[in-house]
Amino acid sequence: MRHLISPLDFSVEELDNLLDLASDIESNPAKYKDACKNKKLATLFYEPSTRTRLSFESAMLSLGGDVLGFSDASNSSAAKGESVSDTIRIISCYADICAMRHPKEGAPTVAAMKSSIPVINAGDGGHQHPTQTLTDLMTIRSLKGRLDNLTIGLCGDLKFGRTVHSLINALVRYKNISFVLISPKELSLPDYIKQDVLDTNNVPYEEVEQLETSMPKLDILYMTRVQRERFFNEDDYVRLKDRYILTKDKMNYAGKDMLVLHPLPRVNEISVEVDDDPRAAYFKQVQYGVYVRMALILTLLKMAES
Ligand code: NCD
Repeated sequence: MRHLISPLDFSVEELDNLLDLASDIESNPAKYKDACKNKKLATLFYEPSTRTRLSFESAMLSLGGDVLGFSDASNSSAAKGESVSDTIRIISCYADICAMRHPKEGAPTVAAMKSSIPVINAGDGGHQHPTQTLTDLMTIRSLKGRLDNLTIGLCGDLKFGRTVHSLINALVRYKNISFVLISPKELSLPDYIKQDVLDTNNVPYEEVEQLETSMPKLDILYMTRVQRERFFNEDDYVRLKDRYILTKDKMNYAGKDMLVLHPLPRVNEISVEVDDDPRAAYFKQVQYGVYVRMALILTLLKMAES
């Protein structure tokens, strides 16, 4: 049984195959329209979501499968005190594969230990978000043509932003990658990621507080929202939330090929006037998210059968 809990659960070769499959789905969607006929995907969302849950559902429906699940833990037996390990045993009787989002770091790992169906981590607290990373990788590979030789600026809430944590984990496995970590000191990347992931893999990075000065050297600028729900104190959130706002003027500092990515939802960190810039890739990113989730569901179901 294979699960996707962290982006490292797939080797680089497996990831390449998955991205190839996602690109084939993009070019020939009709070929896959019955690929998951009679299969069911359960979406277990204990935390709010629009894109991730609906893109999983859209992916399964586009593969000819069915979906069931809940989008609010207060409507599930979690509200009665049921544990994640009990819930997953039950869901294993109802569905062939499941995607779980949970506010607690590690909840999908606990689920995977008791599950008899593949479990996909759809975001666990401030920890990881591997399917957003697959989406980001497909976006970069499709629009830049490569996943190596890149300088990536990660901007905003690098402390609590799980999308950033997963993306770093995945990208350090490619050649000649460097990062510019752009955040206020209080929202800087956790030390365990700097040491265990960046230093261990000898990946160069610099930490800066100013966005504009680092923009000229970037191939990708990955903007993120300040993660309000993970703050202990509302005053800190209010003080930090508008620290970075990417405007049309600031885009003048960027090279003509720099792409702007954002996992979305955006709050204020990218002003809407940037949306029309050809370098703004965040809405295309959403579409890639469906193809890559289709590829993931197919791959995990096939692995579970073999
Ligand atoms: C992200 C998440 O949930 O971590 N959203 C998403 O899935 N695209 C980013 C965020 O909420 O800021």
